[in-house]
Amino acid sequence: MLNPRLDALTDYPFQRLRDLVDHVAPGGGGDPIMMSLGEPQHAYPDLVGAVMHENRHLYGKYPPVTGTPELLSAVGDWLTTRYALAPDAIDPQRHVQPLNGTREGLFMLAQAVVPPTKAGNQPAVLIPNPFYQCYVGAAVIAGAEPVFVPATEQTNFLPDFVRLDRDLLARTALVYLCSPSNPQGTVADLDYLKNLVAMAREFDFVLAVDECYAEIYDSVPPSGVLQACAALGDGFTNVMAFHSLSKRSSVPGLRSGFVAGDPALIAAFRKLRNYGGAPSPLPVCAASAALWRDEAHVEANRALYREKFDLAERMLHNRFGFYRPPGGFFLWLDVGDGQAAAAKLWREAGVRVLPGGYLARDDAAGNNPGQKYIRLALVQDLSTTADALERLSSTL
Ligand SMILES: Cc1ncc(COP(=O)(O)O)c(C=O)c1O
Repeated sequence: MLNPRLDALTDYPFQRLRDLVDHVAPGGGGDPIMMSLGEPQHAYPDLVGAVMHENRHLYGKYPPVTGTPELLSAVGDWLTTRYALAPDAIDPQRHVQPLNGTREGLFMLAQAVVPPTKAGNQPAVLIPNPFYQCYVGAAVIAGAEPVFVPATEQTNFLPDFVRLDRDLLARTALVYLCSPSNPQGTVADLDYLKNLVAMAREFDFVLAVDECYAEIYDSVPPSGVLQACAALGDGFTNVMAFHSLSKRSSVPGLRSGFVAGDPALIAAFRKLRNYGGAPSPLPVCAASAALWRDEAHVEANRALYREKFDLAERMLHNRFGFYRPPGGFFLWLDVGDGQAAAAKLWREAGVRVLPGGYLARDDAAGNNPGQKYIRLALVQDLSTTADALERLSSTL
């Protein structure tokens, strides 16, 4: 009765974390502090409520799959400015598809682009290891083989796709890349992206770049894959770039993002979404357009994250392999045994963090590239973050 592919999806990290700590009372005396979930706790901009309210009469309408012209053009303008694209590079109607947050889009894309076979074999979907869990779910449900490509200290925390076997690349239908990456906060530079776009075209796979942390950066705005396309020429062929308001504007509950890229892929994706997509309500489209057009709240948001990384740098500087990530809002700390550290932190200090191993799969030799790490999401306010880091320092 059930789809047997679901059996391969048994290890969602937050369920594993609940199994690890929920039967244990949090220690430390004070309130427990949640650093495990990447859910921004910063205040979201006031304009969200105001614009939703102004547009409340539109709840009576079915929203179109393509969103609204206002949202598409706000996204087009934002992409053009953010990535210094030529003024005519983006035609929002052809190049942009609104999403209910990036997760559903990242997942659903695989169903649109993974064929039954590629190069005569089961298609492969390449996934960085560690990775955002949606990618593996998407690959498995689409009938592909998920192939995990290490993104470790040895590879500068980026997957080294170039070294992969050509037979594997020939049967690769889809590659996921996350930049800035979750969990390590690594940024793929323009050369890396250009190389990967060229590979996507040579081996004819779809390159899906998850840029949902693109606006949370320390000092330098991360390059984007659409910029790499602009530098190479040939439009956005084979490429899809995913963006979200969840982190940029601290509105994970609004469920709003978009994908931009290859017009042929956008058209195929839209065709699928006509059958099974859940278009964003029109008041959400209106609020989203206003958010993509406003930069002040994004700068303020970045400043709050910077303060917390300053604090972490002062408190942890030469411990736990601390480094200041160029992007994203996670600390990726080497604690020797991530699962043991997460259990201890909860039991003795009431701080909830995610064991890095839960975000990764074992390699062929049985090594898990996340095993020695814990991931901390710096999403709480400054004083709560200080409290959590103090407890972490004294407990580990
Ligand atoms: C790497 C990555 N991609 C995508 C998402 C999904 O974000 P949303 O669906 O809120 O846009 C997340 C959320 O945590 C994430 O960490």
